[in-house]
Amino acid sequence: MINLKSLFRTKPIGHILSEASLNSEGHGAQNPSSNDSVHGMKRTLGVFDLTALGIAAVIGAGIFSTIGTAAAAGGPAVIFLFIFTAIACAFSAFCYAEFASSIPVSGSAYTYAYASLGELLAWIIGWDLLMEYAIGNIAVAISWSDYFTALLEGYGIHLPTWITMDMLTASRGFDSVKAVLDTGVPMADLAAKGISSGAIEAYQAWMTAPQFMGVHMIADIPAMLITVLVTWVVYIGIQESKRVNNIMVMLKVAVLLLVIGLGAFYVKPENYDPFNPNGVTGVLKGVSGIFFAYIGFDAISTTAEECKNPQRDLPRAMMYALSICTVLYIAVALVLVGIVKFDKLAVGDPLAYVFGPEGANVHWLSGVIAVSAVIALFTVLLVYQLGQPRIWMAMSRDGLLPKIFSKLHPKYKTPSFSTILTGFVVGVPCLFMNLTEVTDLCSIGTLFAFILVCAGVLSMDPNRPKVPGRFYTPYLNGKIIFPTLVLISGLLCLKFNTDGVKQFFVYGDWDSFKGKIPLMGFLVMMVYLSWLSFKKSLSMIPLLGVASCGYLMTELGWTNWLRFGIWLVVGLSIYFLYSRKNSKLNTAS
Ligand code: ALA
Repeated sequence: MINLKSLFRTKPIGHILSEASLNSEGHGAQNPSSNDSVHGMKRTLGVFDLTALGIAAVIGAGIFSTIGTAAAAGGPAVIFLFIFTAIACAFSAFCYAEFASSIPVSGSAYTYAYASLGELLAWIIGWDLLMEYAIGNIAVAISWSDYFTALLEGYGIHLPTWITMDMLTASRGFDSVKAVLDTGVPMADLAAKGISSGAIEAYQAWMTAPQFMGVHMIADIPAMLITVLVTWVVYIGIQESKRVNNIMVMLKVAVLLLVIGLGAFYVKPENYDPFNPNGVTGVLKGVSGIFFAYIGFDAISTTAEECKNPQRDLPRAMMYALSICTVLYIAVALVLVGIVKFDKLAVGDPLAYVFGPEGANVHWLSGVIAVSAVIALFTVLLVYQLGQPRIWMAMSRDGLLPKIFSKLHPKYKTPSFSTILTGFVVGVPCLFMNLTEVTDLCSIGTLFAFILVCAGVLSMDPNRPKVPGRFYTPYLNGKIIFPTLVLISGLLCLKFNTDGVKQFFVYGDWDSFKGKIPLMGFLVMMVYLSWLSFKKSLSMIPLLGVASCGYLMTELGWTNWLRFGIWLVVGLSIYFLYSRKNSKLNTAS
């Protein structure tokens, strides 16, 4: 029989910190100014390095790629989605910062959940972070490969298409092109018939790929190779990673500033009209892509044991990184939709595209952007390959994963087994997986992690004694304001966001209705949270974090919810079959 109470046993914060101190032979998280290490890891990161790590994790495939489809669906009004998403992330950043300041050890949201919400939710969040970091990195590696291939093309180097994409993309491209060819359209006229260059490439990949027992041998080799390279940099140690990272981030920000500064001169005001061509529904189609662009500021918290002064620097760095990225994103988005008409932006390389012949026609800038995208995506890969093994390490120390996951390399002092395993977990699937699907999965998993972190802060007593020098989420009483906001938002939802429900009742359209089930569940949750907040005078910022991230999750579509559900079931099976029995808390109590 499972003892339900034991599923929610928490790990005391003091216990977590003293464990870190003990394992480091007297130098620990309690001694943040020390240059020595916790668990033998080196303390080398300052606030500048941490902010750079945050920016490195945030600015990547999102701003260089997925912004295009989001802008094409929502028009210039996509700016509002950028603002809303940034605000949702900021609420969560406060909560992350509070935890990172009070529990400055590796493990990020996993460790925080263990201290506040209990073992089961900690496991779920750890499992969920795998989705954020590893699945997210699969998406970034695929996107890196796209830009890298395009860059080589620019230099006249043509890789065979069947080694530059996944099989699903190739087979879909083959199907769509074949359907047109079958109607008698010659190959040379495909572009004129509106077939995208991506689909034509996919068709070629399918047609030219070698076959083995009838299977088309198509795989994204550059994506796999870059994963191997990044895994190696991370394996040999944080010092090397930090140096590489700081230089690359400066380059990346400089290029985005160049895009904004020069792009502003090519903006045509008429492109902002119509401003909201496809209504709220059109704007909300971009949720996954835009949220994906913001993911990353939370990743810095996984390096807490390598910070010189985690309690002071981690919260600051998270806020700095998020603010800098938000300003850059909004400016870039404004420039993009200002240079070309929004409906042309559904391309894989929108930043380079707007400076190409169909936009501003500044060729050299297009080239600079392609190079910088390759660099930018490399730094994103680096941060996630760095973060994932540290979460596994924390879970292993708690007994939830086998010991080998926390084993440090004798020379490099990095979690060697976990780092190599991360390389496999990312490097193998990126050979075969499709970009959109992994982006969606990454966004839904990350939003869930953000919600749990906010819930962790909510679960703490706002009147507990405050430790000087630590960061606390500012308290604003949500007793009246939160239920009022829920009421107003609920009414707005009924007015603007119930098309799917109406279509079900009027036309019996189950598919549209299905898509609104998460929203209905969310509204019920919000009513419950309003009641709780009224009863317990809960804090506004984490409440708004749960509400805003929860809402974004509801917009990610039924299929993603289903996949996410399967992912959780697999995770829970591992927990009940292995982790629960091996948890160190079994012996501690
Ligand atoms: N925010 C990261 C990116 O856009 C995940 O690539």
